[in-house]
Amino acid sequence: MKIAVAGTGYVGLITGVCLAEMGHVVVCTDIREDKIQMLQSGCSPVYEPGIAPMLKKNLQAGRIRFTADPEIAYNDADLIFIAVGTPENPDGTANLDHVYEAAYTIGLCLNQDSVVCTKSTVPVGTNERISEIIHSVQHDGIKVHPVSTPEFLREGNGIYDFFHGDRIIIGTESAEAARVVEQVFLPLKIPIIKTDTRSAEMIKYASNAFLATKISFINEIAAICEKVGANIEEVAYGIGKDERINPQFLKAGIGYGGSCFPKDTKALVQIAGNVQHPFELLESVIKVNNRQQAIAVKKAKELLGSLLGKRVAVLGLAFKPDTDDLRESASLIIVKALLAEGASVIGYDPIATENAKKIFGQTIEFSDNLQTAILQAELAIIVTEWDHIKHFPLEKYPTLMKNPIIIDGRNCYSLADVRKHPITYISIGRASIH
Ligand code: UGA
Repeated sequence: MKIAVAGTGYVGLITGVCLAEMGHVVVCTDIREDKIQMLQSGCSPVYEPGIAPMLKKNLQAGRIRFTADPEIAYNDADLIFIAVGTPENPDGTANLDHVYEAAYTIGLCLNQDSVVCTKSTVPVGTNERISEIIHSVQHDGIKVHPVSTPEFLREGNGIYDFFHGDRIIIGTESAEAARVVEQVFLPLKIPIIKTDTRSAEMIKYASNAFLATKISFINEIAAICEKVGANIEEVAYGIGKDERINPQFLKAGIGYGGSCFPKDTKALVQIAGNVQHPFELLESVIKVNNRQQAIAVKKAKELLGSLLGKRVAVLGLAFKPDTDDLRESASLIIVKALLAEGASVIGYDPIATENAKKIFGQTIEFSDNLQTAILQAELAIIVTEWDHIKHFPLEKYPTLMKNPIIIDGRNCYSLADVRKHPITYISIGRASIH
């Protein structure tokens, strides 16, 4: 079977490389020639642990190829995955331009029957539109079956998630197409759930919305904990032990970011609004998250009064560890607010600095070393819980800062450990230490 993948972003590249690793012959295509050239030479345009060696191995074995020519990719493909981006429109809806362009090109290039699976996150009904577009331009007599196969991989854990996901959703009205897709994924021994197309599309949005809801819920509980003198870490542990609640996504902090939750929650609010069902719960989830992303600077102002002229180290810039992605990261809100308050900012991230430079330019300083970033800062704000930030020895802070103040947006340290050191420490949903 020849498999083609449209789009070489996180989802497309991981899908392509992992399918090749399974032994399939894969051709990946992208409209960006620069990305294709990088990939042909064995370099990954995205930072993802483990992707580079797997990419090189499968290139050498001849199981994966990259081409900017869609004809080569789609012409004789038995199975095609659409994994292009669906960025946010200014009104919060999903922008489907890339998806529809890919469908159009597939229709023009296909020369045989094929199954077209959409991995991109798309509103309910999009796969029907994809099918219409392909059929409107395709060669006579060719049968194309659309399937919705939403993706659940996390950035930074993409390869693990591909091989060890909790479920694979195959949404289609065609039993024949479902069988083709099922055969591809059966060796992974991951539970396969077959649904109709619209339900599969909905599963993706509902999953991300539910996870985002858990995060905003725990952040609300954290805010109440601060007022009533409870500890959010203990509360989250206590409620997470109930199997019906489960401990995952109950980590209080400075909110969720990334290319998925912020975009997908807003898109689902729009989808609900379009069918005259205002999704009030999800609207609140988004509101709470916006508040949470601004909370570190609010706490800093409450503590210090003015931030004017203060030197602030922002530790971690990526939206979460193990990625170089800053999209919708709390760091964007925090740095902007600090600069607006007249603070001078020094940013540190082990991987995301190059991307951060493109965004912040010369408005902030960057340090390529955690220790140097903290040195002589008057305030340190922990934004991303990279392992070495989380495990940075507390006793070093007083040697690097005159009167150390840490605002820990990810609750990296235990309060008992902090109390052993002369540090002012403010975290999320726990007692402040002065
Ligand atoms: C998320 C989902 O977890 C994936 O299943 C999904 O496939 C993906 O979106 C997508 O739609 O493509 P991702 O955005 O890579 O994956 O990141 P997560 O690990 O889910 O974290 C998202 C944000 O939530 C991060 O900012 C993280 O710091 C925050 N978070 C997560 C919390 O604040 N608390 C938690 O307990 C968990």
